[in-house]
Parts: sequence; structure tokens; C-alpha cells
Amino acid sequence: MLSLLFLVLLIQANLSMSEQLPQNIFILAGQSNMAGRGGVVNNTKNGIASWDGIVPVQCQPNPSILRLSASLTWVQAHEPLHADIDYNKTNGVGPGMSFANAILTKVPNFGSIGLVPCAMGGTSISEWAKGGFLYDQLVRRTQFALQRGGVIRAMLWYQGESDTQIREDADAYKGRLDRFFIDLRADLGYPTLPIIQVALASGEGPYVEIVRNAQLGINLPNVQCVDAKGLPLEPDRVHLTTPAQVQLGQVLTDAFLQSLPSPIHIANNSCRRFSNLMFHFLIGPLLRFVLFIVPFTLAANVSQDIFILAGQSNMAGRGGVEHGKWDGKVPPECRPNPSTLRLSAKLTWEEAHEPLHADIDVGKTCGIGPGMAFVDGLRANDSRIGVVGLVPCAVGGTKISKWARGTQRYSQLVSRAGASVKDGGTIRAILWYQGESDTVTKEDADAYKGNMETLITNLRTDLNIPSLPVIQVALASGEGPYVEIVRNAQLGINLPNVLCVDAEGLPLEPDRVHLTTPAQVQLGQALTDAFLQSLPGPIHIANNSCRRFSNPMFHFLIGPLLRFVLFIVPFT
Ligand SMILES: *[C@@H]1O[C@H](CO)[C@@H](O)[C@H](O)[C@H]1NC(C)=O
Ligand SMILES: *[C@@H]1O[C@H](CO)[C@@H](O)[C@H](O)[C@H]1NC(C)=O
Ligand SMILES: *[C@@H]1O[C@H](CO)[C@@H](O)[C@H](O)[C@H]1NC(C)=O
Ligand SMILES: *[C@@H]1O[C@H](CO)[C@@H](O)[C@H](O)[C@H]1NC(C)=O
Ligand SMILES: *[C@@H]1O[C@H](CO)[C@@H](O)[C@H](O)[C@H]1NC(C)=O
Ligand SMILES: *[C@@H]1O[C@H](CO)[C@@H](O)[C@H](O)[C@H]1NC(C)=O
Repeated sequence: MLSLLFLVLLIQANLSMSEQLPQNIFILAGQSNMAGRGGVVNNTKNGIASWDGIVPVQCQPNPSILRLSASLTWVQAHEPLHADIDYNKTNGVGPGMSFANAILTKVPNFGSIGLVPCAMGGTSISEWAKGGFLYDQLVRRTQFALQRGGVIRAMLWYQGESDTQIREDADAYKGRLDRFFIDLRADLGYPTLPIIQVALASGEGPYVEIVRNAQLGINLPNVQCVDAKGLPLEPDRVHLTTPAQVQLGQVLTDAFLQSLPSPIHIANNSCRRFSNLMFHFLIGPLLRFVLFIVPFTLAANVSQDIFILAGQSNMAGRGGVEHGKWDGKVPPECRPNPSTLRLSAKLTWEEAHEPLHADIDVGKTCGIGPGMAFVDGLRANDSRIGVVGLVPCAVGGTKISKWARGTQRYSQLVSRAGASVKDGGTIRAILWYQGESDTVTKEDADAYKGNMETLITNLRTDLNIPSLPVIQVALASGEGPYVEIVRNAQLGINLPNVLCVDAEGLPLEPDRVHLTTPAQVQLGQALTDAFLQSLPGPIHIANNSCRRFSNPMFHFLIGPLLRFVLFIVPFT
């Protein structure tokens, strides 16, 4: 009895100690007006600035609004949001709390919000350039915020007052801001990260209009500008008052909600300006899609053919893993080849060997996956294949929601894909094997098709390869009862250049979830065939009969492949 009571207490203690994690993440960055100086006044006698402590209702704490503290823990957010970040200054009210509260008021089912304060008073745009302390802190804090789940929704940016003092700085502002946004998006692996910036209400020098024009003229997709001109200022003529910050937060909310692809009805606010949202969401992708020119054959000699491997455990590889130990057996099809490389976690190319995902799917025991056998199959079908680069990105136990745009998984995939082509080479396809974790609840299984189609569309946009072939594997197993729903979703994806290889019936490890090593070898070879069939036009294949599929192989893989998958897009 006593021990039961103790157990209950222990569980409760654990629950209350466990940190709440936010679902929707927003970065706050810039200088003092983002950090917040509302209600901060100078004592005219001693010159010491202090905050009046007044928190308007719109900025009150809410259990659903968290902030990432300077020590990288999620805590309930309260004013001043930047106290432990911009710690050498006296902080007051900024736009962050008003922004977050307004979202929760307008979209009650939005989910919890995590604010990542990064602003620092008195900083010029050149201090935010890539490589500097502020930039690194911003990237580091954001990556940390994404590490345990959550989706990055936008960055709110309010800066430039310090760049109004010298003509040269004001003139250089637009180029520097452009560069900063582009670098940041690349380093966060989110090339279309929504950014909402504030056009200056004030400045420390005479060149406010030049900086404002730069801000209003930024012409990057998915960057909006909210104009703060005319908002009330503190007696210092530089900082927004508390009521002004409340108002700004609400305008930022409206801008954010309007930027969402499916518009949410919000109050009309004429102070907002959008930079070509229409172009970004509709015409841009369409143009890129139409302009894509396909013709390629596999590289004749030097250029690298790059393949991204993503998904969950069966892509990461569990072949030969039992009781948390890999048996170390590498079949001939999976042996290293000096011309088969992998992109390491440190973003360097090295000779690939099993387990391919050892430094990516850390914390799990990796074994044999389909990647090496896939490349072996390519070489068997075309002796002219040169250097092949594999980019492992799969992580065990990840539901498809963990791969949504803005998540850590998604960002890592896009960053690694970008790094893989830095020195040349071409991304040929994404090999995707995932979904076992989405078979546990009916809701997840029902949402799978939509989530997968969105993921493919977003990846093609963010990798800027509109027709990037995606070869998915229809599940052989699942962690829950809804395997058939997910399989049907996978087999029914109806996007151009998406293929599906069916893994049903392949041998499983005793855990009934993971493919055995021989199954992974067969799967790798089936992926090869799907990829080769997806190529437009005839490919010269060397006369090589060293690989043959067994009959069950035909039954389980090639048969379904032919039935479902012979979907070859008519390229021009
Ligand atoms: C705060 O002030 C200290 C002492 O001047 C300085 O070393 C430190 O870099 C400052 N920190 C920031 C973030 O400005
Ligand atoms: C307080 O005074 C200092 C020095 O005069 C000035 O830099 C700062 O902007 C003032 N702050 C406020 C809130 O008035
Ligand atoms: C929004 O406001 C602008 C100017 O205030 C006005 O011209 C426009 O018709 C309004 N739009 C809606 C949908 O109310
Ligand atoms: C690669 O092949 C092309 C055409 O087949 C040829 O022009 C080129 O010189 C070759 N490059 C090397 C490094 O062998
Ligand atoms: C390929 O090999 C088969 C038998 O090994 C042979 O009959 C055929 O003529 C060869 N084809 C070519 C194009 O060399
Ligand atoms: C690849 O080669 C194997 C045997 O060498 C053959 O069975 C298979 O059909 C080839 N795949 C394609 C797409 O030509």
C-alpha cells in the first residue's frame, strides 16, 4: 500500500518535473524594440533606466505560451521576454507576448507557442551577419528549440535603428538584410522560412528613410513587412511605448495569420504590406515546375549521383539487430566500394559502409538498411555509374508529423541535401521508407496521405527540384493496427514522379517490425529497379546478368511494382 502510494507520488513528481514542449515556434530577433523597452524610463537624476513593471492584459502570461530561456529550457513566458538575453540592458515590454496572445485569441486551436528571444539592444545589421556571435546564437537557440519536436512557424524581426547614423550603413542595409535572411534560411534548412519584419518607427540617426525603404523593398519570397511608422514613442524618441508594442504585436499576428497558405479570416489592417505572397505560393512554384527541364542519363564518368535516404527505422536499417545489438554481418551486396560515398553527420563525404545511419540515427542501434544494396543494384545495371553519394537522414520511431516543414527532421534533411551538392553532383531521388509509427492511431493513419503529399511538395519546393523523384516503400509492418490504411495511402499517392515499391511479405526480424538483412538487400534492389524505370527515355544498360530476383521476390516486389508503380511521367 505504502509502496503504491510512493509510486504514485513518484510518477506525479516526474510529470510535474517534465518540461512542457511547445508545438509552434517563433524566433524573435533584432535590436531594442524587439527586445522591448516599453515602460522603461530614465531617471533624470541618476540616469539609471528602470522598467515601470506595467504589463497590459494583452501581454499577460498564458500557460500555452512558453519562452526558451538563456539556459535553453522551456519556461512559461512573461515580460520582459528578453531579460536574460539582452541582459546588459533594462528590458520592458516588447511585441512578443502581445503577438502570441493575439494568435491564441484568434485561432483557439492553434496549439502551444514557444517564443525564442534572440534580440539584442543597440546592434547593427553587420553584427547579425553570418559567423558573428548574434547569428550563431540565433541559429543555435533555434536548432535547440526544434530538437525535441515543434515546428518553426516564423521569425519576427525588428532592427535597423542603429543603421540610420551613417549614410554608408543605411545605403548598405538592403544588401546586408537580404544576405542575413538568405544565410539564416539556408542554415536553418528552411529556404522559405516565413519572416515578418518591422519597418522602422524611429532611428538613432538621420537616415531612417533610407533604411525604411530598404525594409519595405525586400523582395524575397515569404518575407512580409509590417510598418511601425507613427506608433507612439517613449520620451527618448527611439523606443516604442508599451501601448505601441501591444499594437505592433497584434499587427504582426494579422500578418502571420494572413501568410498561412489557407487564409484565416482576420480583421482588416491597412498598415500591412505583403511582398508577393501570391507569387510565392502560386505562380512561383508553377513557373519553376513548368521550367524544369529533365533530360539526363546517369553520369557517365565523374559527376556524382546523389540519393537522399529518409524515413524511420527500416530506412535507417535494423537488419541484423537483435536485443539492441547488431550482428555485424554485411552481405556481399552491401560491401563498401570506393566509389560509393556517404555524407557524414559532419557533412563530409566518406566511403560508405554499414550501418549507413550510425551517426545520424544516434541513440538507436543501426544495422543493415536498403541503401548500400540500392547502389550495388545501380552498378549492376549500368557499369558506367561513377561516384554515388548517399545522404542518410532517417531516424527511427519518427511519425510523419516529425517530418513536417519547419521541424528538426525536415530542416536537417534540407540542410544535408544542400550540403551534398555544394561541390557539384545532382540529387537524383529521395528514397523514403516510413509510416510504421503512423499505424498506432486511426487519426494518424487517416492523415497520412495528405501529410505525405504535403511533405513531397514542400521538399521539392525547398530543394528547388520540382520533379525530384521520390521512391517510397509501402509498409511491410507497423507498430499498430492501422497498417493497411497507411499502405493504401502510400500506394495511392497521386503526384507526378512518385513511385511506390511494395515491401509487404518481406521477412521480418523477431520484433515483427523490422526487415531482416536479406529482406533489406531485396528491397534495395527493388528500389534500384524502380529508380531506373522512373528515368525518362531508354538507358543503356550494360549486359550484366549477375543479379537475379528470386520468385518470391517477383511475387512480393516486382509484381506489385508493375501493378502500381509503372507510372512514368511523360517528360518533355
Ligand atoms: C555585457 O557586459 C559585459 C561587461 O561589459 C560584457 O563582457 C558582455 O559581453 C556583455 N554582454 C552582451 C551580450 O552584450
Ligand atoms: C536613457 O539614457 C541613455 C543615456 O542618455 C540613453 O542612451 C537611453 O536611450 C535612454 N533610455 C531611455 C529609455 O530613455
Ligand atoms: C481594407 O482596408 C482598406 C483600406 O483601409 C480598404 O480599401 C479595403 O477595402 C479593406 N478590405 C476589406 C476586405 O475590408
Ligand atoms: C567524361 O565524359 C565526357 C563525355 O563522355 C568527356 O567529354 C569527359 O572528358 C569525361 N571526363 C573525364 C574526367 O573523364
Ligand atoms: C546480353 O547477354 C545475352 C546472354 O548472356 C546475349 O544473348 C545478348 O546478345 C547480350 N546482349 C548484348 C547487347 O550484348
Ligand atoms: C537491372 O538488372 C537486372 C539484372 O541484371 C534486371 O533483372 C533488371 O530488369 C534491370 N533493371 C532495369 C530497370 O533494367
